[in-house]
Amino acid sequence: MALTLGKKVFIVMLTILGSWTSQATSRTLQEAASMAKRHEQWMAQYDRKYADDGEKESRFKIFKENAEFVEKINSEGNHSYKLSLNAFSDLTTEEFVASRTGYKITNQSRSANVNTSFRYENLSDIPMTMDWREQGAVTPVKDQGKCGKKITYLKL
Ligand SMILES: *[C@@H]1O[C@H](CO)[C@@H](O)[C@H](O)[C@H]1NC(C)=O
Ligand SMILES: *[C@@H]1O[C@H](CO)[C@@H](O)[C@H](O)[C@H]1NC(C)=O
Ligand SMILES: *[C@@H]1O[C@H](CO)[C@@H](O)[C@H](O)[C@H]1NC(C)=O
Ligand SMILES: *[C@@H]1O[C@H](CO)[C@@H](O)[C@H](O)[C@H]1NC(C)=O
Repeated sequence: MALTLGKKVFIVMLTILGSWTSQATSRTLQEAASMAKRHEQWMAQYDRKYADDGEKESRFKIFKENAEFVEKINSEGNHSYKLSLNAFSDLTTEEFVASRTGYKITNQSRSANVNTSFRYENLSDIPMTMDWREQGAVTPVKDQGKCGKKITYLKL
């Protein structure tokens, strides 16, 4: 079915005008739906499964924050690097520390010098890291993670 551009525009206009919600509301709804879809795709990509809807919802919140941060940085266009989501994009800082070090989070390590930068990939780091590995100049930090590239150094 070939629609002319005019017809396509007309249909889009109708869709917008015909919506009884305000444009702002419908845009918000669309964004929420597409974020939920991205979360689903991300879950499939990293084979992530959640125990129940409650967990999924709280994971989604973390994921959404990270996705929005990544998007914001990438769309600003004035940075020398790009970010992307990675396998840790739905973890809390505490879970990340525990999963990477095997240590239980204690009150002491709670204040560890860790922030949320592990939850996304800083793409500017990749070529440099790979070069170093190839040259054998440095021993990369041991990383068991599937797709982890950048490792946040932990002071525990
Ligand atoms: C990039 O642009 C955003 C706004 O578009 C600004 O808030 C931010 O400070 C800028 N960052 C740099 C590194 O110039
Ligand atoms: C950890 O800190 C919390 C709140 O500050 C406190 O209630 C708890 O007793 C502390 N636990 C230990 C093992 O010190
Ligand atoms: C958090 O991560 C950012 C980006 O890697 C870094 O620039 C910043 O210094 C970090 N902050 C702390 C408190 O570690
Ligand atoms: C990404 O990496 C670059 C270069 O290492 C660094 O300057 C920048 O602060 C990093 N950005 C974030 C958001 O982690």
